[in-house]
Amino acid sequence: MRTIGVAMNGVTGRMGYRQHLVRSVLAINEQGGLALSDGTRVRLEPILVGRNEAKLAGIAARHGLTAYTTDLESALERADVYFDAQVTQARVKAVLTAIEAGKHVYAEKPTAESVAEAVALAQAAAARGVKNGVVQDKLFLPGLLKLKRLIDGGFFGRILSVRGEFGYWVFEGDWQEAQRPSWNYRAEDGGGIILDMFPHWHYVLENLFGRIESVYAKGVTHIPTRHDEQGRAYPATADDAAYGIFELEGGVIAQINSSWAVRVNRDELVEFQVDGTHGSAVAGLRTCRIQHRATTPKPVWNPDLPATARFRDGWQEVPDNAEFDNGFKIQWELFLRHVLEDAPFPYDFAAGARGVQLAELGLRSSAEGRRMAVEDL
Ligand SMILES: NC(=O)c1ccc[n+]([C@@H]2O[C@H](COP(=O)([O-])OP(=O)(O)OC[C@H]3O[C@@H](n4cnc5c(N)ncnc54)[C@H](O)[C@@H]3O)[C@@H](O)[C@H]2O)c1
Repeated sequence: MRTIGVAMNGVTGRMGYRQHLVRSVLAINEQGGLALSDGTRVRLEPILVGRNEAKLAGIAARHGLTAYTTDLESALERADVYFDAQVTQARVKAVLTAIEAGKHVYAEKPTAESVAEAVALAQAAAARGVKNGVVQDKLFLPGLLKLKRLIDGGFFGRILSVRGEFGYWVFEGDWQEAQRPSWNYRAEDGGGIILDMFPHWHYVLENLFGRIESVYAKGVTHIPTRHDEQGRAYPATADDAAYGIFELEGGVIAQINSSWAVRVNRDELVEFQVDGTHGSAVAGLRTCRIQHRATTPKPVWNPDLPATARFRDGWQEVPDNAEFDNGFKIQWELFLRHVLEDAPFPYDFAAGARGVQLAELGLRSSAEGRRMAVEDL
């Protein structure tokens, strides 16, 4: 059994604590460590890094950990890997410090707020020769894994279009507490749904359907005033909804709505409908339903008659055929194998920079009211 040190910054946050510390790093230790291909097992020693020592001490005590500090450099001295789930704005500086210290780096998305910085991070990591990775958790969701299985099995024939619907109502924070941190709604603090969600849409589209050639997006701030964690009103300066059209290689058209100002009338908080010549699928976080061309009903438009056909009944559930682990944990294991035994890991900082590029182009498209070509970085 080997042990490696993992400095984890941002573990007091939503993602850093629940998904990365508890559901990934500690879960890997609980299952007996990470198994490498030569049979050795590796235990992870988290070194918690943050701004508030008392909060770090609380988390450490809750999980029987001893290593925590507010000093990034001293954490890096004890670490082999640096992980960052801080607010986006704090990411670049800390990750660059870790790269300079020669540590392998893994980070939440978006890797930076601008393409220039995201590319600089990728270049710095390459120049220093450290392994680098960005979180692309949606790829490991059961629903999207089933969708990938359908694509790989040739279910769709020629894929025509993808319609994504993401979102839910995020409370304004006055009469009911908001369920997301307030920085997400302030552009000056790195917020905005385009910067948050377009990096996700980038890797989902690129990995499942092909390269994105152009984007047209309209970002809006539907709710102009929100209330923060202290109950104070603040102007929401960032986009809280984005309506995007993405043209992919091979002529596939993807259209994705992202909104924190929509009420859910769907089975899941995100759903993608894929239509192909031979069949269609609707994939969510966990489930995936299909309709084959041979079982496709023939609706006839007649507004004089009530709709009697129960269209949703004509879809079939795709079976699990596997056990699905937590997506964040799966990606942690892939990254650590990449670090420890050079296993392939395509989700690097260059991929992260392409995600930031799509967000930046989406914001420009919205500001300028025009379609933007996505050039190779
Ligand atoms: N992969 C995903 O599905 C997913 C989902 C949500 C958020 N994220 C990303 O994870 C990151 C963290 O998001 P979150 O929702 O956990 O945020 P959060 O506000 O809950 O946590 C932010 C963390 O950053 C720390 N921090 C450092 N400097 C800060 C500063 N100046 N102001 C405020 N906090 C500061 C906080 O202490 C906290 O630990 C973001 O980059 C976000 O884009 C990813």
